[in-house]
Amino acid sequence: MSFINPVKRGYLALETWFNISFGHQWNPLYNLGTLTFFFFWIILISGLYLFIFFDSTLMGAYSSVEYMTNEQWYAAGVMRSLHRYASDAAIITILLHMFREFALDRYRGFRWFSWVTGVPTLWFVVTLGITGYWLVWDELALYVAILSSQLMDGLPLLPGTMSRNFLAEQINDRFFTLMAFLHLLGQPVILVFALWFHVKRLSGVSIMAPRGLAIGTFVALVILSLIAPAVSHDPADVTQTPAILNIDWFYLNIYPLLDYWTAGQVWMLTIGISVFLMLMPWLPKKKQDEVARVFLDHCNGCEQCAKDCPFDAITVQKRTDGARWENEVVVHDNLCASCGICVGSCPSSNPFRHSEQSLITGIDMPNSPINDVRDQVDAEIERVNKSSSDSDNKIIVFGCDNALDFKGLESSNTGIIKYYCVGMIPPTMVEYALKKGADGVFITGCRTGDCYFRHGNQWMDERFDGDRKPILRKRAERARINVFRAVETECKELKAELDRFQQKLSSMQKETESVDSDLVESDIVESNIIESDIVENKNGEA
Ligand code: HEM
Ligand code: SF4
Ligand code: SF4
Repeated sequence: MSFINPVKRGYLALETWFNISFGHQWNPLYNLGTLTFFFFWIILISGLYLFIFFDSTLMGAYSSVEYMTNEQWYAAGVMRSLHRYASDAAIITILLHMFREFALDRYRGFRWFSWVTGVPTLWFVVTLGITGYWLVWDELALYVAILSSQLMDGLPLLPGTMSRNFLAEQINDRFFTLMAFLHLLGQPVILVFALWFHVKRLSGVSIMAPRGLAIGTFVALVILSLIAPAVSHDPADVTQTPAILNIDWFYLNIYPLLDYWTAGQVWMLTIGISVFLMLMPWLPKKKQDEVARVFLDHCNGCEQCAKDCPFDAITVQKRTDGARWENEVVVHDNLCASCGICVGSCPSSNPFRHSEQSLITGIDMPNSPINDVRDQVDAEIERVNKSSSDSDNKIIVFGCDNALDFKGLESSNTGIIKYYCVGMIPPTMVEYALKKGADGVFITGCRTGDCYFRHGNQWMDERFDGDRKPILRKRAERARINVFRAVETECKELKAELDRFQQKLSSMQKETESVDSDLVESDIVESNIIESDIVENKNGEA
């Protein structure tokens, strides 16, 4: 097994454990982005409800929040708690989402854009939470207001002006209303824009968490809101220092640092961490394979590749080569992740085409063209035919590069073909391997719900189920095709699954042989009957 760094190994073990507890579909670790969106929905809806009762003036804010918490605890109070806890939960899922991308090395190379644009979204979410605490206008809000002013004054823009307001007790309604405006409208709009930018280079992004996971999470938040409702501190009083402050460590964690450091130092730390995070994709840079190329002579403009590309790297335009088709496709090199999924989408990738010549398809990977893949299938089938006995089952393994280490699987009766992603396998290639003499085809790839190239797994399933073009035709015997999904640490499980598949093929072979021999025997019996009939007939005639 190749070396897997301990962070990745640990993280994969955690995901395995979550898979056992929640199943692939509802595994929260596979849905951290959509779960964060789900929390944003809760924050938005509860926030709109709270806004009905909230008084956005300095004098009325605290009492309006108290009214909601105590008088209307069953509705606005629960909404307030949901608003608070969903916000905290969002920070947890964002940090986990970020850690996951890092641990699984999904932040470099073509993913640099999503990573770099993710960092500011974290800032926008945290500052949104900070202005939220400000609006309650209790002792914690005052603490946040004073320390935020210190921080602002630490910037070379308007030195000293903000905290002077507080010292002179000049915090006025206008400033408070500005905070309300920022929290209720300005910051959410910026966040929505930042999130749109964050996922701009991805296609088919879901912002809805799976239903079961969403319901379970919501119920947990409601229970938490009822057991431990969010409450305020005493009202803000600029003349008094609060004795106890319950800091929200998810949002306000940098404020206690100001007890020890100057505002300038805190800025240096936070900006330093952010710049470092944004530079991470290049420390060191990840090497990427050559990007996909279009071969117009073999493209009929069906657009399937553009529909399937997980990174929005293919666009459709009017035909430029005078061919009779209406459209053609163009690959944008800067967006292409070299996943090869488009090759699996293209109807021209059919290996039964041009069997005597090179197979050229509509869109191909320069470093692993479909013609080479077909040649490898031919070569591996020839090798296993030569090196194994007639009674052995010959298996062709199509293995995705990013999931399991399947080098050890090669044997006298098992041939291995490497792919960028399972989505790169045209279903016809599976048929081809079976037609050419393989007894079984074994496909390995990333775990369900966690394709390295986002949609490869899903497209393959849909193609095999006949729900997505190009489909796996009915004539391909499903019992001879085995799909196994796992991660790098699960090599033993892979071997065990391959052995099970071998056994299944052997028992299928035995069944076929016994059916064949039954057929032969019944043929003999039948022919005896016919012969005896003839004899009888002859005798009768005689
Ligand atoms: C405000 C919070 C955030 C939300 C709601 C969010 C949501 C999402 C969503 C929905 C995706 C698409 C996942 C997919 O469909 O494959 C995504 C991708 C990604 N996010 Fe975030 N994200 C957030 C913050 C961050 C942060 C802070 C980082 C890291 C600095 C980050 C790094 C990434 C990366 C690298 C991807 C690309 C994943 C891929 O290409 O497979 N995100 N995010
Ligand atoms: S290789 Fe992948 S990312 Fe590039 S164009 Fe094809 S499907 Fe899109
Ligand atoms: S899938 Fe193939 S034929 Fe269809 S548009 Fe893409 S390159 Fe052309």
